[in-house]
Amino acid sequence: MMAEAETQKDDMLLEVKDLTVRFPVKRGGIFGGKSYLYAVDDISFEVKRGETLAIVGESGSGKTTAALAVARLVEAYSGTVRLGDEDFLALKDDDLRRARAKVQIIFQDPYASLNPRLRAEDIVSEPIESLNPLGKSERQTVIDGLFKDVGLRPEQQRLFPHQFSGGQRQRIGIARALATQPELIICDEPVSALDVAVQAQILNLLRKLQKERDLTFLFISHDLGVVQHMCDSIAVMYMGKIVEHADRKSLFNDPKHPYTQALLSAVPSVDAKRRRNTKRILIPGDPPDPINPPQGCRFANRCPIAEAKCNESQPPLREIKGGHKVACHLA
Ligand SMILES: Nc1ncnc2c1ncn2[C@@H]1O[C@H](COP(=O)(O)OP(=O)(O)O)[C@@H](O)[C@H]1O
Ligand code: SF4
Ligand SMILES: [Mg+2]
Repeated sequence: MMAEAETQKDDMLLEVKDLTVRFPVKRGGIFGGKSYLYAVDDISFEVKRGETLAIVGESGSGKTTAALAVARLVEAYSGTVRLGDEDFLALKDDDLRRARAKVQIIFQDPYASLNPRLRAEDIVSEPIESLNPLGKSERQTVIDGLFKDVGLRPEQQRLFPHQFSGGQRQRIGIARALATQPELIICDEPVSALDVAVQAQILNLLRKLQKERDLTFLFISHDLGVVQHMCDSIAVMYMGKIVEHADRKSLFNDPKHPYTQALLSAVPSVDAKRRRNTKRILIPGDPPDPINPPQGCRFANRCPIAEAKCNESQPPLREIKGGHKVACHLA
C-alpha cells in the first residue's frame, strides 16, 4: 500500500497548492487608497508526468496569471509550486536557473512573443545560449533538430518572423520552448489566434511532441472544444477560483457546476446523443467587479439555479465522486 502511494507521488511532476496572486490596484476618487485584485485566489491542482491538465474559463478568470505564477514570471502572494521534488518558488540563483530550464511557455500570439529583429534560428537557440553557450556546429545540430521536429524546413532558419504564416510562427514558438529540453510546457491559448484548420495541425504537433518527449502540459484555453482532444483532466476557473476539477471524461459526460454546464453547451459535439441532449445555455450578464467580489458564490448573479443561500457563503471545492471536485452549494 505504502509502496503504491510512493510511486504515485513520483509520477506527479507539478503540484500547485493554495496558490494566490494579487495585484495592487488604485482606487479612483480623492479617497482612493490601495486595494487588491485577487487574480488567482487560493487554487490547487496537480499534473502527472506525461499528462495534460487543461485550465479553462472565460477571459479574465485568471488563467494566464496562474500560468505565469507557476513559471515564476509573476510573483505569487502565497502558496507553493512543487516541480518534481523541488519547491520551485523557493529556489534561488543557480538552482533557480537550472530549474527554470525545465519550465517553458508557449504564448497565444506568437508574433508578439517573437523578437521581430531576430532570425528564426536565433529565436529558437536563444534560450540555450543564455543557459550554456554552444560551439558553432553543436548549435547548428540542435537548431536543425528542433526545426525538423516542429515541421519547419532548414532554409527557413534564416528568415525573420514576419516572413512566416501564423501557424509557422507558432511552430517557431514551440521549437524555442523545446530548446532547453523542458519537462513542463505551459501552453497559454496556443491556437486561439489561428484559423481552425491550422489549429488542428498545431494541436496534432503538440500531441506528437508530448508522446515523443514525455512532456507534461498545462494547457490553457477559453474554449472547452479545443481541449476536448488535448487533455487528461480539466480545471474550470471562474473569477480566480477553480469551480470544477475532474478527469476529462467525467467533466464532459457529467458536468456538475452550472458554469461548466453552460461552457459545455456551447461546444459542438461529435457525439450525436450528446448533441441531442444538450441545448445551448447562455450565461447572462457579466462577472462582478473582481476588485470587490461578492462574499457568497461568485457565480450567483449569473447562475440560472441560484438560491438565497448562494449569496451567504462561498461554496468550497469539494470532492463529490472519485476525483471529481465541484464548488457549488447545490451540486
Ligand atoms: N498585471 C496586472 N495588474 C493588474 N491586474 C491584472 C494584471 N494582470 C491581470 N490582471 C487582472 O487579473 C484578472 C485575471 O487576468 P488573466 O490572468 O489575464 O485572465 P485570463 O488569462 O483568464 O484571461 C483580470 O481581472 C485582469 O484584469
Ligand atoms: S453555489 Fe449557487 S450560485 Fe453558485 S453555482 Fe452553485 S447554485 Fe449557482
Ligand atoms: Mg489569458
